[in-house]
Amino acid sequence: MPSQPTRSLAPLQRHPVRLRINGEERTFDVETWVTLLALLRERAQLTGTKKGCDHGQCGACTVLLDGRRVNSCLALAVMQDGHEVTTIEGLAQGEELHPLQQAFIDHDAFQCGYCTPGQICSAVGLMAEGQAKTANDVRELMSGNVCRCAAYPQIVRAVTEVMGLDDAEQTPAAGYVTGPVLA
Ligand code: FES
Ligand code: FES
Repeated sequence: MPSQPTRSLAPLQRHPVRLRINGEERTFDVETWVTLLALLRERAQLTGTKKGCDHGQCGACTVLLDGRRVNSCLALAVMQDGHEVTTIEGLAQGEELHPLQQAFIDHDAFQCGYCTPGQICSAVGLMAEGQAKTANDVRELMSGNVCRCAAYPQIVRAVTEVMGLDDAEQTPAAGYVTGPVLA
């Protein structure tokens, strides 16, 4: 039987990506299909950002891209060249926690903690957007961040406290309506 000609695979195409991550300029060579989430976790060794669904459904991977919250599992790394990324590791100032980090601790706003980095990054983005005026707004505008431990009442309390909303003490009976992160 004649031997099959061997075909060599084309070398992987990589592209340089320059990012400012948590205030530090960094450069990576990445394949086109690498997501921002994979770059952060596997190349930048910033594992605070979590992979949940990997399909834009849970918000565990939320980071700030130029100050706006995004699902990093849906963002291709090569398209972020020259942009600024802030992850949960970049929110504290040295030993001083970000007010939202402190509020999550104060209000027991987590159980397993898996969703927490995404919740906090999402809340930072929410505050910058300036649209949330009530606890219900917080619930709706953070509906893309799912908490499987159902710590929603405490999460809303922590976020509304930091935002100084009038109904910060209100304990809602309802959870979030799930949906995509608004970015
Ligand atoms: S891991 Fe990105 S939205 Fe779930
Ligand atoms: S604290 Fe466990 S998923 Fe939110």
